[in-house]
This record gives sequence, C-alpha cells and structure tokens, in this order.
Amino acid sequence: MSPKILITGGTGYIGGSVLHTLATAHPEWSITALLRTEPSDFSSKYPGVRVVRGTYDDADVLAREAAGADVVVHNGNSDHLPSLQALLAGLLRQPREKPGVLIHLSGTGIVSDFLSATHLGISNPKIWSDISSLDEIRSLPDMALHRLTEKLLHETAKTEGEGEGKIRIAVMCPPDIYGRGLGPGKTKSAFVPMFLREVGKLGRVFYVGEGENRRSWVHVNDLMSVYLRLVEEGVKEGGGVAGWNEEGYYFAGSQEVSHMEVARTMGEILKRHGMIENEEPIPISLEQLDGMIERHPMLGRYLFASNSRTKAERAKILLDYNPQAASLLESIEDDILAEIKKD
Ligand SMILES: NC(=O)c1ccc[n+]([C@@H]2O[C@H](COP(=O)([O-])OP(=O)(O)OC[C@H]3O[C@@H](n4cnc5c(N)ncnc54)[C@H](OP(=O)(O)O)[C@@H]3O)[C@@H](O)[C@H]2O)c1
Repeated sequence: MSPKILITGGTGYIGGSVLHTLATAHPEWSITALLRTEPSDFSSKYPGVRVVRGTYDDADVLAREAAGADVVVHNGNSDHLPSLQALLAGLLRQPREKPGVLIHLSGTGIVSDFLSATHLGISNPKIWSDISSLDEIRSLPDMALHRLTEKLLHETAKTEGEGEGKIRIAVMCPPDIYGRGLGPGKTKSAFVPMFLREVGKLGRVFYVGEGENRRSWVHVNDLMSVYLRLVEEGVKEGGGVAGWNEEGYYFAGSQEVSHMEVARTMGEILKRHGMIENEEPIPISLEQLDGMIERHPMLGRYLFASNSRTKAERAKILLDYNPQAASLLESIEDDILAEIKKD
C-alpha cells in the first residue's frame, strides 16, 4: 500500500514547497492536501493530490484526515494549538497498524533573544544545537515564540511515544528562509518583503545598535531536502534512521549572517536598481524599530535586531543533510526583484 500523507498549509510558502516536493518526488504516494482555498490551477498542477477543504479550526476534519494518514506534515501556522491538538487526536486514534507520524513546522524564533533588550543589535555568543541544547530548548518559558505548540508536542511525545509508542513526532525548526517557494500559492518568504516595506518608508536600509546581531538562514530548496528525507524515513518501518520524539528535533540552517551584512548587500542592490539614492545603512533607535510593524511592535525587534544562531547537527548526522543552494547574500537579489516586481 502506498503511504498516505496529509499536508496542511499547501498554499503557503513553506507548506506549498513541501507539497510540491513530496508530490513531485513521490507520485506513487497518496497525498491529501487540506486547503481552505484551492488555487484554480491546483488540480491541473497536482492531479494526483486529493484536496480536502477545511481550516485549522475544523477539528473534526483535521482529526478524521490525520486518523487516516501515515504521516502528517503540518505547516502554515506554527502557533495554532487547536489544529495541532486535533491532528494529534487523529493520529492517536486506535486501531492503527503502525504509529502515526507528525512533522510539525516550528521556527528558530523559539531561541531568538528578542524578548530581552540585552543583545539587540549586537552579536550574542549563544549558539543553539538541535542535539546538545535540547533540554534547554524544552525548558524555555511559555512566552518564547512557538513554545506552546512545541511544549504540547514534547509532552505528547513523552506520554504517547515512549517504547513501542503510538506516535512518532518531529519538530522541524528552520531559521529565516530565502529563495523562491515551489508551491501553488505563496512563493515569497517573510524577511525581504518586510524589510523592503520599511526601507520604502525610510528611504534607506537600516540597522539597530551595531547591526551585528546574527541569524541563521536556509534556502527553501535546502530545507526541502531535509523535509523529503524526513518524510521518506517516516514512512519506513520503525521510522527509518530518523530521530523521533525525544530525538525528533531538527534545525535546518545552512549559514549565519549578520544583519549588517544583509543591510549592506540589500543597500547596494537597491541603489543599483534605482530604488534608493544612498546605499549606506543608517542606524535607527529602538523607538523607531518598535513603531515599524503596526500592531506587532516586537516583530521589528525579532526580524531586524535579534540573534538566533543555530546549528543543524541532527539532519547532517542522520539524514545526510548537505546544503547545496547559493548563499543568502548571493541570491537575495532574486528575492528583492520578485518583491519589487510583485511577481
Ligand atoms: N518564512 C519563514 O522564513 C519562516 C521560517 C521559520 C518558521 N516560519 C513559520 O512557519 C509558518 C508558516 O510560514 P509561511 O511563510 O509558510 O507562511 P504562509 O506563506 O503565510 O503560509 C501559510 C499557510 O497556512 C495556511 N493557513 C493559515 N491559517 C490557516 C487556517 N486557519 N486554516 C487553513 N489554512 C491556514 C494558509 O492558507 P491560505 O493560503 O488559505 O491563507 C497558507 O497555506 C509561520 O508560523 C511562520 O512563523 C516561517
């Protein structure tokens, strides 16, 4: 029997890339996409993918579809607890021939230092490992980004996953992602459009403090190589060689870049394309930063002033993760032009 895969968020940047990657690499799998809106060309692009209409608040639909799936890949909203609860309930529904597998999209926002002003705009020496820092990550306060969903997963893995467990859970925790998404809906990531919006208002690229805050990044294609291997292992007997539950935590970053490097590179590109007159980054105050993103004052701190430095050790050891894509600074021009041209 071909593996049954349920994918959520298939019209999003990450979820759409996952959908495209799995449907293309494994046309023999039975893939279901839970979509709240179906793009008009979806069925012609993905004729083998079954569509179920629903939202993350349709607990019955999510639980029913998860109960019938071997692997659920949940994307789209890393903080939506009710959808996660419904998917877990479905995956744990018995009888089932083998443990259900859940791969949940989280993000390195969980280890970002933006909640304190201590390291805003300066380099934080702390680097997080998805092997040696796991106890620390799993003890982060509830106010940490994505913490409530990760906590639920960790608790469920402990109670339901031990020994001959009923479930196999993996948390996929990518850093900032760049590159053109592969899926049928949104193909742009978050950082470049949000930075460009603020640059448009200021007329200059900008930084906070010294601009030396450092973050990990991954190209969407490299991230998809981790997803593909993880799902391929997930459908195997015993979960293959991948780590699950206690060992089910995956960073995916392929490089680390300071905000100043990003700002300088973007300044040069924007000047060359006639979008700004002066390419030199300017400092902005915390007050300016907090006023940037309406209704989300902390988001500016997170995106433009925080550190989140992570090492993707587990995928390299277990899944032969070998990032191949061009670096952020080499390929950011494509993301900028896609946003400027709105294509
Ligand atoms: N992009 C990054 O660099 C990055 C890095 C790490 C973590 N993350 C996290 O990953 C998550 C997804 O990011 P993304 O960039 O892929 O977002 P995105 O492009 O906005 O995609 C969101 C997807 O989720 C679907 N969705 C959202 N709420 C839904 C609901 N209530 N019911 C049904 N579908 C719903 C959307 O469907 P519609 O098309 O119908 O709206 C869309 O398919 C976010 O929580 C983000 O914080 C992002």
